[in-house]
Amino acid sequence: MTTADLNKIPRDVAVMFDGVARGYDRTNAILSAGSSALWRIATVKALELQSGDRVLDVAGGTGTSAKAIERSGASVVALDFSSGMVAEGRRRHPAIEFVEGDAEALPFESASFNAVTVSFGLRNFANPQVAIGEMYRVLKPGGRVVICEFSHPVSPVLRFGYRAYLKRVMPLVSRLVSSHYAAYNYLFDSINDWPEQRVVSQWLRAAGFTRVGYRNLSGGIVALHRARSPEDRKVRASIGRRRSRPASPSTAAMQLNVAD
Ligand SMILES: C[S@@+](CC[C@H](N)C(=O)[O-])C[C@H]1O[C@@H](n2cnc3c(N)ncnc32)[C@H](O)[C@@H]1O
Repeated sequence: MTTADLNKIPRDVAVMFDGVARGYDRTNAILSAGSSALWRIATVKALELQSGDRVLDVAGGTGTSAKAIERSGASVVALDFSSGMVAEGRRRHPAIEFVEGDAEALPFESASFNAVTVSFGLRNFANPQVAIGEMYRVLKPGGRVVICEFSHPVSPVLRFGYRAYLKRVMPLVSRLVSSHYAAYNYLFDSINDWPEQRVVSQWLRAAGFTRVGYRNLSGGIVALHRARSPEDRKVRASIGRRRSRPASPSTAAMQLNVAD
């Protein structure tokens, strides 16, 4: 598959992940030089889980994050639209509930989770803002969202070195460690095209989230975005009304600027 032109067509993205499912976690660990495990620990910690919490892991892949969440005493549902990733997840973690479904149309009732998380998934969605709206919908009032995603290093030197790694080194390494190495070319384009940290924060605020913030991990190679759904029912209701109104021309223009 040529991945440069993948253009995030959902069917093609799902097929690509079906293909890499078996070796996905191993390849990830190698390409990130072990850092992926640390990023996952930081993500689970940021969720501030309490025993009995119900957590949704969107784009949960093979369930590696879901397993770490479960260990903290919470109950977790891992959702993914790649049947290959879901099958691999069920094989590895039979006790975890996996659901095959689309992040942009979550098959869950409103206000049904205490926390929602997504690791390295948002960047792959055709409409990330729609998925953020869905995460907001399924969260209970006061619920937490944590998004772990590749981002952009802050230091120009690291930015330069990281781009060189993604463009030159990673394709060579992925050829050695994965039989589906073409899929990893897609990584460079999807990371390169991904907006800066503050834009993702703006998307979260636009969806209605409060206490929005982010923390750079590994110098900004990864960003950990956090936010809360408002506790106040009146605030939530007014956001719901605002969402259901068609956007005025000025709001639409503002959204375009944010996405640019
Ligand atoms: C890079 S993997 C990350 C998997 C896992 N979260 C992890 O950290 O290992 C991205 C995942 O997003 C899933 N995905 C992409 N678009 C999706 C969508 N619209 N709905 C559900 N899953 C999606 C893919 O199938 C894939 O499993």
